[in-house]
Amino acid sequence: MKAKGGLGCHEVDKKKVGPAFKDVAAKYQGKKDAEGNIVKALKDGKVGDKAHPKATASDAELKAAAQYVLSQK
Ligand code: HEM
Repeated sequence: MKAKGGLGCHEVDKKKVGPAFKDVAAKYQGKKDAEGNIVKALKDGKVGDKAHPKATASDAELKAAAQYVLSQK
């Protein structure tokens, strides 16, 4: 996460440039395919209709990043 710049804009428990990861986890709580949505957002460089830096990482790394974000309470 650090190596890919995720922590440059995000923190676990407070909003920085991007939302706090615990808020993202809360937003996706109980949502089907939350992990798939986050991986897609990072791959496509798009969160809904908003631009997001594309994460240049392997599928496994993106999956791990999404699981990390969703595990934050
Ligand atoms: C490995 C790197 C990163 C990861 C894993 C990551 C993850 C995420 C996730 C999971 C979301 C929420 C997506 C959603 O609501 O569906 C998000 C949103 C956002 N991120 Fe990142 N991010 C990364 C890097 C960055 C960087 C480098 C920036 C700043 C340049 C950034 C700025 C933002 C912003 C502004 C949003 C909110 C988009 C909106 O308005 O909804 N992120 N990010």
